[in-house]
Formats: sequence, C-alpha cells, structure tokens
Amino acid sequence: MTVSAVVHDAREVVTVEPDGSLGVYEEAAIAIEDGAVARVGPTGPVTREFPPENATHAVDASGKAVIPGFVDPHTHAVFAGDRSDEFEAKLRGKTYQEILEDGGGILRTVRATREASDDELLSNLLDHLDTMLAHGTTTVEVKSGYGLDTETELRMLEVLDRADDRHPVDVVATFMGAHAVPADRDADEYVDDVVDDQLPAVASQGIAEFCDVFCEEGVFDVEQSRRVLEAGAEAGLTPKVHAEELAHIGGTRLAAEVGAASADHLLHSTADDIDALVEADVVPVLLPGTAFGLGAEYADARAFVEAGADVAIATDFNPNCYSQSMGFAASLACVEMGLTPAEALVASTANAASALDLDDGVGTLREGSPGDLAVLDAPTYVHVPYNFGVNAVGTVLKDGEVVHRA
Ligand code: NIG
Ligand code: FE
Repeated sequence: MTVSAVVHDAREVVTVEPDGSLGVYEEAAIAIEDGAVARVGPTGPVTREFPPENATHAVDASGKAVIPGFVDPHTHAVFAGDRSDEFEAKLRGKTYQEILEDGGGILRTVRATREASDDELLSNLLDHLDTMLAHGTTTVEVKSGYGLDTETELRMLEVLDRADDRHPVDVVATFMGAHAVPADRDADEYVDDVVDDQLPAVASQGIAEFCDVFCEEGVFDVEQSRRVLEAGAEAGLTPKVHAEELAHIGGTRLAAEVGAASADHLLHSTADDIDALVEADVVPVLLPGTAFGLGAEYADARAFVEAGADVAIATDFNPNCYSQSMGFAASLACVEMGLTPAEALVASTANAASALDLDDGVGTLREGSPGDLAVLDAPTYVHVPYNFGVNAVGTVLKDGEVVHRA
C-alpha cells in the first residue's frame, strides 16, 4: 500500500492523548495516509505495515523526537512598517501606553498598513509564515486590526485568505476592527463604525471565523467590547477577547459571559476570573513573549492549571512582540510561568487548537488526526523549551507532505 509519509526510527514520537496527557512512544514510527495519521507505534510493526520504501516521503528520524506541529493561536502577523525603534524606547523606560499616546504603537502600524499595497502585505505575511513554519508551526491564527477602517480591515482579511491558499501553514482569520481607537475618534462612535459598517462587510465576505476586541483601560471598556462581540456573534463570528493585559477591567468575565473561544493575555486576572473561565469552558491563551518584551509580570500559568483550565500559549507575534517562535514561548512558559515541558507542549499544540475551536485532532498526532508534525534535531521534546533561543525544529510535515527541511 502506498502511504504519503512514514517517519521511522524516531527516538520518541509524542502525541497528546484525549485526557490531555502526553503519549510518549519510544523507538517509534508514525505513518500518514491521505493527510491523516494512520498509525503510531514501535518502528518494527509500523514499518512492516507501512514500508517506508513505498511511501511518498520517508523520513529517517534516528535519535530524534517527533512532536505535533505547533498551533499558534494568537498573532497579529499581517502588517507593514518597522517598530524596532520602539523596542529601544521601551528599554529606555517608555511604557507601551506612552508610546501609543504619542501616536506610536498600534496607530503607527495602522498608518503603514493603510499605505501598503495588498501585494506588500501578502509578501510580508508570507515571510513571517515561512519563519513560523521553520520553527515548527503548522497552524496559526492571525488577526486583522491594523486597518481600523472597513476598506483596510477587509484588505487584511483578503490577504490572509490568499496566504492560506498558497502557504502550507493553515491560517485561521480573526476580525479585530476593535484593536485601537483611531486618532481623533471617540471610542463609542468608533464602536458604531465597527458594528454598523466593518462587521457586516466582513461577515458578508465570509473571510473571518473569530471576532476579537482589545478590552483594556484607555482602549475599549467592557460595555463597548461587549457590543462588538455580541454583534460579531450575531454575524456568525465566535468571540475572543484581549483581556487584562495592562490593567484589570473585567475582560476575563466578559469572555466567560459571551462564551468566547478564548480569553488572551490575562496578566491581571483574579482567582475568581479564572474560575469563571473554567466554568464557561473558555480557553486561557497566555502570551509569555508579550510580558518578556514589555518587561512586565508574567501571567500565573500555574493558577490556571490548578483551577482546572486547559492552558494554551501563543507567540502574540506583532510589531510590539517580535517573535514567531513557539519554542521561545515554551521556554518562557516553563522558566517564567511555571509550566512543565510536558504542559508547555500540550499548551502549544492541542490546547492551542481548542482555542481555535479546531476539534478534528489538530495538534495531537493521534491516529485519525492531521499529519502535521515536526521532527526535532534533538532527542526529546524537552529540548524545545530546554534549548532556549535556538530552533530545535528540523523537518516539518503538513498533512503528510514534507514542507520544510532545515
Ligand atoms: O496583543 N494588545 C493589543 N494588541 C497587541 C499589540 C499590537 C501592537 O502593539 O501592534 C497585543 O499585544
Ligand atoms: Fe494580541
């Protein structure tokens, strides 16, 4: 029988089991047929059933670990312009909010993005997707939100659609017209624009799955955020919330109340907030790179785990948090947030897929699930966070096709 891929003689193949624990198969192989995992187990029996010589792709993983491809469930990867000078300003002591008040930050990226052509936005995004893929990411969520007007928000989402068609990484699109209040606009009046103009246009094109809002002190308050998310849900877009990143204003509770797929950032969430999220089955998406880049306190990942939450992590890749690497996020999640390497792996694969409502086994490598995996240039999955600042990923397969080789 011809299969599309066999990865054999791995030192270990790591899966995520239905109870959320890791399955670690030693001296193992994985066979992928028609894009889906057909068999995982000891190399002998798997390669007798699925001989590598008959496979379209045979990968010798001797001495290496095989893990599910990363799912990055929170990025702002489509934009133009460069804000590296703000990194220096922050190192000199300027805060994120001061930069935004001076017309920098998000609003500066909005100006650059409005001026950029579609092809320029697409080319920038494809470069970032290449970097993500080389670091083992096979599915990524990307938000609009650097347009802040109907025309540019739609252009960003169309660019995401084109990138999804032509790049091996799966792109999940989120509409985030409520990412900032445009210069010289009133927040309430701008929310009217998002709800009455942007959302209907986005929904009629069918080019976004989620609707996100920056629920934050000085940006959109809880009631403004609720209006956006309820209108989004009405238009068929599942809510997501940027909550409690810089201050505590109630965004976590809002996520629970509107039945969001995820609540993200959560640096200032309280114990009651965490219980509300668990109760409402909202996935907490923690973004250690953002805290790192801002020099801020990290979210308390252990408090979420101990409350029974299925914690996910993401890069938050954007001009303010310039890392496409889920491995780096995993290192920070372990060292700064108290996750174990096993928890960090589940957080960056299966739980991240849950934050995107992907329920067909994405991020698990269990039999029947998509054949999206990374072969590490390292003997165990622990090397992902352990080898901090270095990319442990060698070969990447998407739907059973080799799409990247280091
Ligand atoms: O998730 N907090 C809002 N949005 C982004 C930052 C975007 C930007 O600064 O360009 C975030 O951190
Ligand atoms: Fe964000």
